[in-house]
Amino acid sequence: MNAPGDGSSEALLHAMAHAISYREGLLGRPIPPQIGVDEATRRLGGALNPRGRAAVDVIDTMVAEADAGLLQITSPGFFGYVIGGSHPVGVAADLLCSAWGQNTAYAATTPGVVAMENAVCKWVIDLLGLPEACGAGLVTGATLGNTVGVMAARDALLRRVNWDVEARGLFGAPEIQVVIGAEAHSATAAALRYAGLGSERVHRIAADAQGRMRVDEYRRMMAGLSGPILVILQAGHINSGAFDPFAELIPIAREKSAWVHVDGAFGLWVHAVPELAGRLAGVADADSWAVDLHKWLNAPYDAGMVMTRDRAPLVAAMSAHGDYLPEHGAIWDPSDSVPELSRRARGVPSYAILRHLGREGVLEMVARHCALAEQAAGELSAIAGLTVMNDVVSNQIAICCGDGERGDAMTQAVLARVQQDGRVYPTHGVWRGRHIIRVSICNHATSTVEIAELVTVLGDAWRQVQSEIQTE
Ligand SMILES: Cc1ncc(COP(=O)(O)O)c(C=O)c1O
Repeated sequence: MNAPGDGSSEALLHAMAHAISYREGLLGRPIPPQIGVDEATRRLGGALNPRGRAAVDVIDTMVAEADAGLLQITSPGFFGYVIGGSHPVGVAADLLCSAWGQNTAYAATTPGVVAMENAVCKWVIDLLGLPEACGAGLVTGATLGNTVGVMAARDALLRRVNWDVEARGLFGAPEIQVVIGAEAHSATAAALRYAGLGSERVHRIAADAQGRMRVDEYRRMMAGLSGPILVILQAGHINSGAFDPFAELIPIAREKSAWVHVDGAFGLWVHAVPELAGRLAGVADADSWAVDLHKWLNAPYDAGMVMTRDRAPLVAAMSAHGDYLPEHGAIWDPSDSVPELSRRARGVPSYAILRHLGREGVLEMVARHCALAEQAAGELSAIAGLTVMNDVVSNQIAICCGDGERGDAMTQAVLARVQQDGRVYPTHGVWRGRHIIRVSICNHATSTVEIAELVTVLGDAWRQVQSEIQTE
């Protein structure tokens, strides 16, 4: 509680004032941090003070010392990795989420926030066009969403061959064959490791030029497999944004009674837009999906979701019910679908964002980002010497400069200049043997203004790098 006169309410008001001033000042700030981790540690680290300090002082000093070390991820000109912009309505709700301090394990204990989280699960399943009866859990992000999906798959696949993995573990269990694309995101390899299936003991299927799983190779591989099979597909390649050809791949998995999990961290949101959903045709036929809310929905960190067609394996894999805990009710208990028992009500910010945007607002945002990506790709590829390496099918653009090794060095030099300029902020990648500049359009506020700035800054940096090389 905040006791009158103890300074705690003042601290909260200061925190809000700092938050507002930070967010309102974003456009005027360079995007990269102005100090490195050593200087930040010098300012913020050190020994713990033996005596306490006034709450307001702590908040004010913390902000003053951390400020220069902040990366302006929430700026509409931030195009790095695949990162949402922490929507202001979600940030406001997040503050309440902390203030309420609800331990979101049981419906009977914290019904207010559980009702909101259940609504988020229902709405997101509906928006994404997945089966209405799906089980769902709100996790920290797609890495954990993939891990939980793989664990549910592990439960279901082994149960079919009369092996209770939850009770007996994997010691002596029938082997699960794992089929995965050569260019799957590293988070899926981590998920396989965490689930005890191993990241190397997999059948890797070659990728096509966009990083999608090749159907011919997959068909050949599947023909030779028997027993429990887990197929991991991808909706949204980290560099190209491409989607695996679900409509061709999933029916082949069905013939083998395989479990199909889809890593849809950002790309699954494209399925929400009726005009674009065809790009992911067949994705709703999978058995489980992971998606991030902190990416394309722009929820503040951290928020992701796992969904399973059949809820039973999800609960079997996750539920940690102890005798001292409340009885199972008719309503879903959040802790039955996620690895944690105690956790914050991480669905609350997403609830506020979804209510604020409504269905139309979410669809508009995703469609706008896809259209902006096409526009940016068109304008960037019109600049002589710049190549857009991918077919733009979602919000990702992979750009390289010049050719070969020299081109790689130039690409890196161009990116360094662009980042140093500080108005826009793409990041680095390596794809198809080339160093690339990755542009990801994911911020709720990004518009044609930031795209024009991106094209100008990147084009200027490229011309400068070329002219420097010529004068060497
Ligand atoms: C395709 C894909 N899968 C998984 C992840 C990991 O997601 P998270 O960082 O939310 O755990 C990412 C992150 O960019 C991603 O793009």
